[in-house]
This record gives sequence, structure tokens and C-alpha cells, in this order.
Amino acid sequence: MNSSESVRGKVSKNSQISTNGNTVFFTTPIYYVNAKPHLGHAYTTITVDVAARYSRMCGRETYFLTGTDEHGDKIVEAAERQNKSPKVYTDEISALFKNLWPKLNISNNDFIRTTNPAHIKIVENLLTRIYESGDIYFSEYEGIYCFGCERFYQERELVDGKCPDHGTEPKKIKEANYFFSMSKYQDWLIDHIKQNPDFIRPERYRNEILSFLKEPLEDLCISRPKSRLTWGITLPFDSNYVTYVWFDALTNYISALGFPDGELFSKFWSGTQHFVAKDIIKPHGIYWPTMLKAAGIEIYQHLNVHGFWNVSGSKMSKSVGNVTDPVAVTDAYGVDQFRYFLMREMVFGLDANFTEDAIVHRINSDLANDLGNVFSRVLAMNHRYFNGEIPATDTEIEKNKSLSLKESAVDTIELFKRAMDNNEFHKGLIAVWDFIGVLNRYVDSTVPWVVAKDENRRNELATIIYNLMESLRVVSSLIYPVMPETSFKMQQILGIKPSEGREFKTINEIMPWYQSVAGTKVEKTSALFPRVETDKQDSKGKQDCNKDEQNSNPAVLKPEITIEDFAKIDLRVGTVISAEKIKKADKLLKLKVDLGEKEPRQIIAGIAKSYAPEDIVGKQVIVVANLKSAVLMGESSQGMVLAASSENQLFLATAQALVVPGSKVK
Ligand code: MSP
Repeated sequence: MNSSESVRGKVSKNSQISTNGNTVFFTTPIYYVNAKPHLGHAYTTITVDVAARYSRMCGRETYFLTGTDEHGDKIVEAAERQNKSPKVYTDEISALFKNLWPKLNISNNDFIRTTNPAHIKIVENLLTRIYESGDIYFSEYEGIYCFGCERFYQERELVDGKCPDHGTEPKKIKEANYFFSMSKYQDWLIDHIKQNPDFIRPERYRNEILSFLKEPLEDLCISRPKSRLTWGITLPFDSNYVTYVWFDALTNYISALGFPDGELFSKFWSGTQHFVAKDIIKPHGIYWPTMLKAAGIEIYQHLNVHGFWNVSGSKMSKSVGNVTDPVAVTDAYGVDQFRYFLMREMVFGLDANFTEDAIVHRINSDLANDLGNVFSRVLAMNHRYFNGEIPATDTEIEKNKSLSLKESAVDTIELFKRAMDNNEFHKGLIAVWDFIGVLNRYVDSTVPWVVAKDENRRNELATIIYNLMESLRVVSSLIYPVMPETSFKMQQILGIKPSEGREFKTINEIMPWYQSVAGTKVEKTSALFPRVETDKQDSKGKQDCNKDEQNSNPAVLKPEITIEDFAKIDLRVGTVISAEKIKKADKLLKLKVDLGEKEPRQIIAGIAKSYAPEDIVGKQVIVVANLKSAVLMGESSQGMVLAASSENQLFLATAQALVVPGSKVK
């Protein structure tokens, strides 16, 4: 299924959504066609897609634009390297971008190319406006020019005399050119940024632009003589020149809306949300607002800036040659898996690391283990106890708070909204996954398999299953912006009918509770997310090998985790109340550990070579208390004790002083 079909190619207007006059225009940068699309382009475009889908979920009329930037030196050089004309070359690469987006379920309404005749006309219109208002002048200029960046540099911007981006020495050139009086707007821009604190967000990038603006701005050279470059848009007031590629490129944002008189322009421009990475904040945060101001056009609403994906710690770029191909990743792991990973792993605004291990880990733990498991677990119980029909809840029984999940769902939706409204996409997902954790614990604490044994508790069982089905309905709706296919699949299985003309529930439609209809037949399901088997898990030999490497070389660290990852681990202090050997298992001890719960827990610990049973009775240990129970040598183990390993000896971890059993370790 291509879940973006119902919105692509037209304005996502739906009579059932109340727009309240809310219209939003989302843009990605238009990407250069000097190389194939890579992970970084995919990230920005998926991020904007998530923001746009969420915006539609909020009932806002939403227009989403992406496209390609096709003029300038860079493109001519790339075409020459392939012995192709710029036209043939740009057609080919632009198509790679255009065809990638449906594969990643991008719901863009339009795809613009700067070689489109309609765009060219609007660039001419904008140049003429600014020229006629007196803010473009002709002048001889001598300066240092980086051909890679296609712009003049000031000495103070160089690093050791070299271009900070390309590491090459800029060339001194002397040319007569056209200049845009950008410096004239410096004070106005500083004021605008100060008066609109989230004009550029997050704050670190606003500060970066403000600190740049502490130095005097120079005027912007906006022409290139045709003697040097012909692959560009001719200046309407001097046919010996083409315009600077950034002047051309930035204009795409208004030309795609049909500036100046287009219906789309009047409807959407005032709600503009530009999304870019930190590499291009200067053109977007300085050139573009001053160009708009000079042309008498309203300034865009927000510039949203994200960080960079690094691959194996180094900055990913075409020249380093370690570009990650989004098509290959999607083919290998699945589109929703890729989208989830990118959105969950990167904190919007900061850099992140892309490794294959990290994506596999997220798929196996968050998607297969957490979401996938709870989904199939609940559906299996619905099948087992109610023949696959959603049971009717008993609202009287539900007054028992511990049987209700409604409040938790309401809190989750609130947290999700707050995070998404702030571009904190990873936090939106954390809110949903915390709720999934609540569901798993709910199953464990309501013990439906015990309740099912008692005919007199049939209504209680129905209420438990009903609440879980309702909760899955909520989860299926909330994951829509990030994982549209999975959302759709879950909703189909749960028998939820999308509203007329669209495939998602608006955020306001998720509540009230009790929307699941008793009697609805629900399929049993195959796994939502297959686990990814890695070499490490496939071959025991390899696994041991890794272990050895880690043991013998403590400097080898496991992949980095976040504080949220760590917070998932519930560590408690427990008192060992009994310990005994296990027959035929010379490494294991069977412990009973008091964690301050009703009953002591049985924990099987691999410490028999370092501790005799009598050594540890009465000692306090640190226990991973929320570890999934397991069976070791036929004995059930409900947790794990922690120990340091040094020179083949184990040393149990403990608290410095005697503490109350069950105390948290943070
Ligand atoms: N053509 C200009 C943009 C003109 S917009 C009016 C351009 N093109 S680009 O192909 O170089 O794209 C740069 C953008 O691609 C970044 O701002 C970001 O959106 C995305 N990314 C490229 N590499 C990236 C990473 N390694 N990490 C994250 N995003 C990155 O600049």
C-alpha cells in the first residue's frame, strides 16, 4: 500500500476537518542534483512528512513542498564528469529524488524543479521587484571566491585561509557584478529575530544567527557573468549575467505557491514552516528574510533547523564516500522501520550517529518486542477468551481504577501533542512507547489468564480485554505520522474504519474512550514487525567471540544509549534470603531475594564459581527487577543480580549501607 496516496498531488482538504482558518505550508530544502539522494536528504524529507501528517491530524489544511535545485557551477561540473548535458543530467538525478519519495511514503503535494519555466518566470519577477525598488546595484568587486560554495568569502570566515566546507583555498577574483543591498536590512533582521523568539528554532541556531549578525553584514553578490557560467536564470535587467544559485533556489518557496497572485500563495504563505539542516541556516536565516523584506513580501513564520547525521562518527558527505543509501536501508529493513529509527534516534536540532547496529536494535527492541508483542499478545487473548470478538466492557467494574487505562491514554495524547507541537518527535514516540510499557504491565498485573479460569469473573475479563483493545486503537492512531503503513495495518486488523476521505483519525477523534464496538470481529495477527536476525544472534560462536572481546578488552564499549534507554531499567536493592546450588549446573545458584514485594523472587544467578551459597545469604544485591522472566536449567528466574567481573572472578554489586529491600537504584 502507498499510504500517502490519498493526500499526494492535491491539497489535503477535507470537509470533516475543521480548519479554524489554520493553514500550514511545510518545505524541505530543494536538493542539489549533483549526487544521488542519501540518508541526510531522506531524514529531512521524512521529518517534514511527519510534521505534515501530524498537522493534518490536527485538522490543519496542509501543503507540503519538496523538490530539486538544478542550476549553478556544481551541477555543470557533475554533468561534465558524466559527459552529459546539464539538462539530461538534471532530468536523471531529479527523477531519482522524485521517485524516492513515494517509496518512503512521503506525502508531498508538489515537487518543484528550478528548471521549470514557471519557476524561472517568478525568479525574474522577484529580481525585477527588488531591482526596481533600488536594492540591487552594479559594482566592480574584488574578493575571494570558493567555487565549491559558489560564493564570495570574507577573510574572517576562512579556517587557516581555507574554505571551512571544502578545505580548499578560495581564489581571488575581480568582477563587475550585481549586488543586493542586504546590509541595509541588518538592523531590521536583528529586531525581527528578537521580537519573534522562535522565528529560528531551536534556540541554539537562533543564537548562531544572532552572533553572526553582530558583525557588519556585507551586501550579497547575486549575479555571475555568463562568460563564467551559463547554466542559470538570466537577469531580467542584464542578459550578460545569470543569477546566483541561492537567489534562484530560495525563490522556489514562493514560486511553487504561484506568487504573487496564486490561490495557494494567498492561502498558505503566512503559515510557512521551513525545515533545513544546520549547514544552510545562513541563506535561510539571513539572505531569505532580507530578500523577502526588500521585495515587500511577508516574512515566513518559522525556520526549523536540525542537526547532522554522522555515519560511524564522521560527517557524512558525498566527498567522504560513506553516504548511506536510503533505498538500500528501506529494502533491507522496511519503510516504517527506517522512518521510526530516524525519528526516534535523532533529537531534533542535535547531531546523531547512524549505524546499522543501532537500527537493528531499535527494530528488535522497540518495534518487535514492545509494540509487536503487545499487539499480538492482546489479540491472541481476545481470540482465546472471546473468539476474536471485542467484548463489552463493564463500566461498573471499571470504576476499579486499576482496571482502567483511560487516564493513561489521555496523558499519553497530551504528552504526544506537546512534543510534536515542539518538533520534539523523539519525545512524541517516547510518550507512545511509555504507554506501550503501561499496557504490558497492565497485562502482567491484571493476569487475565488467572481471571479466565473463574466463570464468575467473566465481566472482569471482558473489561480487561476491552481496555487493552481501546489502548491499541489509541496507539495505532498516534503512530500514524511516523509509521503510516503500520498505523493503517493495525487499524484494519482492529476493525477501525477510517473517516471518509482520509486514512487517519484526527487528534481530537482519538478520544473519547469506548469507541471500540463490542462484537467487532478482530483478526488474529501475524507479527507486525519481524525480528532482524543478526550474525551475532545467528551464530553462537560469534556471540562468544564478541563476549571474549569485551571481557578481554574492557575499552570496547557497547553502543551508546540515551538516558531514556537507561531509564527503562528498573534497578532495586534486594536481600538474599536463601541460596542453593542447582544440580548439574556448576555455575548457577538459585536465590530467593526479598525486593519488598509480597513474595520473595526466585533469581538464578551465574555466580556459583565465585560465591558459595552460605557466603551470600543475608547480603544485599542489586537486581534488574523488570527483566523479562526466563527459564534457566529448568528453573524460572525473575530478575538478574549485578556483579563486576574482574580476572575471572565475580564480585556482587551492592549498596554502601543496609537499605530497605526494594529501594530504587538510580
Ligand atoms: N540546494 C541547497 C538547498 C537550497 S534550499 C532553497 C542544498 N542542497 S543539498 O542537496 O546540499 O541539501 C542540503 C540539505 O540536505 C541539508 O540542509 C539537510 O536538509 C539535508 N542533509 C544533507 N546531509 C545531511 C546530513 N548528513 N544529515 C542531516 N541532513 C542532511 O543545500
